[in-house]
Amino acid sequence: MKALVLAGGAGTRLRPFSYSMPKQLMPIANKPVLVHIVETLRSISVKQIGMIVGSHADEIRSVLGDGSAFNVQISYIVQDSPRGLAHCVQIARGFLGDDDFVMYLGDNILPEGISEVADEFRMGRPAAQVVLHKVPDPQAFGVAEVDPDGWVTALVEKPKEPKTDLALIGVYFFTPAIHQAVAAIKPSPRGELEITDAIQWLVSSGWKVRGHVYSGFWKDTGNVEDLLECNRELLDGLRTSIAGDFDAATQFTGPVVLEAGARVSRSRLVGPVIVGAGSIVEDSYLGPHTTVGRDCQLRQTSIDNSILLNGAKVHQVRDIYGSIIGRFSILSASPGTGRNRLVVGDHTSLEVTG
Ligand code: G1P
Repeated sequence: MKALVLAGGAGTRLRPFSYSMPKQLMPIANKPVLVHIVETLRSISVKQIGMIVGSHADEIRSVLGDGSAFNVQISYIVQDSPRGLAHCVQIARGFLGDDDFVMYLGDNILPEGISEVADEFRMGRPAAQVVLHKVPDPQAFGVAEVDPDGWVTALVEKPKEPKTDLALIGVYFFTPAIHQAVAAIKPSPRGELEITDAIQWLVSSGWKVRGHVYSGFWKDTGNVEDLLECNRELLDGLRTSIAGDFDAATQFTGPVVLEAGARVSRSRLVGPVIVGAGSIVEDSYLGPHTTVGRDCQLRQTSIDNSILLNGAKVHQVRDIYGSIIGRFSILSASPGTGRNRLVVGDHTSLEVTG
């Protein structure tokens, strides 16, 4: 089985970060979302991955390369503009050939993996198998109706009046029957070729489509709150590993990862916490669910439940929580003026004590 990963989306809900990096490379537990996805695919024995990329193609290539570092082969397929998930299947036809494949949206996190549903698809080999998850707001998703035996009877993309609460989540399994379907459908009202419509075409044409209800943790990392929640979820499985240095005045509680070259002095770390390679933490408190990227500098600060991207610096600013601090950003106390001075990028949100 091959895989098709869709990593072309612009990520407007993740501004300002998505101005300078694709949302699919945002770090969760200090690893880009796409690396988590490649590892998940590897764990179900997928070796050939087609990666659909858009305007951020170069940055994605520079992180994943040809895939050999992850023991997979990655082929890049460029989509000129976001024309829908079924359009991605069309342009990947050469890569996919007549093989079965799993299609995985490049911003989805399923920490429990997809082995069970992959096994079910491989054994039964229905024309398609979709992964469904009960959600409180089905009108925001593709929604499926399923009969008591688990066969899908209807699917609608973002219905105003959903008939069920079973959302299609970003993992789909297909046989080559899907190629007839994506060729047959027309663009939706939002102007995109919807994969939901293509799967409905299969159902209407008499093909068997299976619905697998997944009840584990699932999120798409589309906005800041979801990203923090995914970070917390993955950190809850963290195990202590100390490759960096710390002094005798530093205390650890709970699982802590210090990557190689990280240095911690006179600080208290209450895990789960990761301090990335080459980062320096001095006279600080790092609380649960905090990840510090590579080459950051933290001095006289206290932070919990936050993500710091590579190269961020925080000096003498306390009580930071629920925050994402971008690459090479600097947060420091104002030098004695008692006033605030901010250089804030476009589409940034700050909540400061008034
Ligand atoms: C897409 C699909 C939708 C699915 C969702 C899952 O929506 O069209 O059917 O439920 O992904 O994240 P989009 O993110 O394009 O709005």
